[in-house]
Amino acid sequence: MTQKLIIDTDCGVDDAIALLMALADPAVEIVGITCVSGNVTLDHVVQNVPIVLDAVGAGPIPIFRGAERPILAPLYHASDVHGEDGLGDAGFPRSTRPISDEHAALAIVRLAREYPGATLVALGPLTNVALAMAIEPNLPQLLGQSVIMGGAVRALGNTSAVAEFNIYADAEAAAMVFERGLNPTMAGWELTVETPMFWPRWDAMTAQAGTVGADFVVPMLEDLVRRSRERERPGILLPDPLAMAVVLDPDCASSFTAAVAVDTGWGPGRGLTAVDVRGNSKAAHNARVVTAIDTDRLAALLERAFRMSSPR
Ligand code: RIB
Ligand code: CA
Repeated sequence: MTQKLIIDTDCGVDDAIALLMALADPAVEIVGITCVSGNVTLDHVVQNVPIVLDAVGAGPIPIFRGAERPILAPLYHASDVHGEDGLGDAGFPRSTRPISDEHAALAIVRLAREYPGATLVALGPLTNVALAMAIEPNLPQLLGQSVIMGGAVRALGNTSAVAEFNIYADAEAAAMVFERGLNPTMAGWELTVETPMFWPRWDAMTAQAGTVGADFVVPMLEDLVRRSRERERPGILLPDPLAMAVVLDPDCASSFTAAVAVDTGWGPGRGLTAVDVRGNSKAAHNARVVTAIDTDRLAALLERAFRMSSPR
């Protein structure tokens, strides 16, 4: 019985790698990919997802267009990291795959009803997920589990001093997700920073890659890798692949449950994911926080994805 995945993404370069990891796993079936504004504009995200599917010659996986804007916050993008187009400005050919007319939020609800027990993987701002929860309050009960890349459980932000991008970009949506019982497993920014893929291993896995790794991943990440090396980073940071590793190989992760609250104020704390690590608050635990991921098992998932060959 394959695990059904609903993947919500703001398809930048790390989202693309996470998608490749899922596409390489015979034990999972992606039943839908929903697009949300985040790393880049929604238009770019909707262009990027089919390009990733084309890179591996994937079957007709439904793709859905979602929220153009956050619930309340102004638009906020990260093209400085992902390139103007979101895929490293590598110039990949546009795809001819069709995009569904159904809105992403409605698609998440329908797919959760059609595939009870499906896993929701959210790799971008939580706008579509929050809208889906407003449409179908029983969404958490329909889903098997939810895994998000998001949050900063010790307030090590990457977008503000205290906030991680996916939460900061739509703090209201994140607050809804945590307060209304999605009970996600969250792979946050500190986990990302503490789990780099060190250059020798990264270089080896891309050197031994198939055409997907060599002709898609390497050019897509060329600029990010160059900048990371120039800044003397010890390796490449892979936030969304870490979240996808939790989905594909749950035993690779260590975690604890906690009560998480999101700061939706407009001050310096906006987007903070306050985690009650000492259990002092009386609030119910509403999330599972990932504290560590086995790097060898993450590498195995990446290597499997990169060894795929393009259809052309
Ligand atoms: O903060 C990192 C997260 O924000 C990743 O999901 C990245 O793709 C961006 O969406
Ligand atoms: Ca993302």
